[in-house]
Amino acid sequence: MCVRATELAGAPIATGDTVTVLLGSACRDGARFPAPDALRLDRHPNPHLAFGRGPHACLGQPLHLAQPRATLPHLSRHQAGLRLAGTPHREPNPVLRGLISLPLSTAA
Ligand code: HEM
Repeated sequence: MCVRATELAGAPIATGDTVTVLLGSACRDGARFPAPDALRLDRHPNPHLAFGRGPHACLGQPLHLAQPRATLPHLSRHQAGLRLAGTPHREPNPVLRGLISLPLSTAA
């Protein structure tokens, strides 16, 4: 809750207003990353914010990073044949913006 009237990026915020602060593009910030929308697994340096920073950084990071390490080698076997097979659907949530579904087909 805002304790003192202020302004943020031209928008007035009154005392008592509730403000939710979100990172607008974060890991795909064009001012920070060249070709921000390209999937580049070899980006270096890669100062992304996906798992937060500091004392409250994500405890699940090692577990989550294990998932692509386990699945990508299997997917890469079908790489030449992977095709979009339908409309991807996003989570209808402004905070968690992941995909609900990404229909793919393989030629194999
Ligand atoms: C794509 C997967 C994930 C992403 C992008 C993600 C991202 C994040 C972010 C941004 C935070 C907040 C960091 C902060 O407050 O500065 C966080 C916190 C946390 N995450 Fe994750 N997370 C993921 C998966 C997981 C998994 C799989 C687990 C557990 C098995 C997990 C457990 C936690 C916990 C316990 C915290 C709170 C840490 C604390 O407040 O000290 N996360 N995560």
